[in-house]
Amino acid sequence: MAGQLAGKAVLITGAARGIGRAAAELFASEGAIVFATDVNQPAEPFLDPNIRFSVMDVASEADWRDIVQTIKDRHGGVDVLVNNAGIGGSQLALADENLGDWNRVLDTNLTGVFLGMREVLPGMRTNK
Ligand SMILES: NC(=O)c1ccc[n+]([C@@H]2O[C@H](COP(=O)([O-])OP(=O)(O)OC[C@H]3O[C@@H](n4cnc5c(N)ncnc54)[C@H](O)[C@@H]3O)[C@@H](O)[C@H]2O)c1
Repeated sequence: MAGQLAGKAVLITGAARGIGRAAAELFASEGAIVFATDVNQPAEPFLDPNIRFSVMDVASEADWRDIVQTIKDRHGGVDVLVNNAGIGGSQLALADENLGDWNRVLDTNLTGVFLGMREVLPGMRTNK
């Protein structure tokens, strides 16, 4: 496949819709093999055969381990990580915020990004 990213393995989180989905389609159009993931199934299936969708929760250490291992087994490692998944939270005033919603934002927007970087970094170093 031709393109600026031919053969590169790209992992994108939060890719069922929005910016993540658009990024998945753009990377695939440049020849990348895209692993599009999301905690929810996409409303519409991906049409590009270079995009493989799987369900994963960025807040789950086990989910990160599984998807990165899968990509390593099939393509030698992750070349590009797009840590896109994120949530806006309840938007309530501070005095009305509850701890569950607060923790969900931190788990997704902070811990999820940390887990992703930590999981792919060793393979990226090895593959230079
Ligand atoms: N759209 C904007 O104007 C804007 C502005 C600033 C930042 N952002 C950030 O850019 C990113 C994408 O924005 P968007 O507008 O496409 O958002 P979106 O809400 O349309 O899509 C986010 C996707 O992330 C998924 N997601 C949520 N929690 C998840 C989890 N725990 N694990 C895996 N997937 C999860 C959702 O299911 C959804 O498909 C988000 O991180 C958002 O916070 C967006």
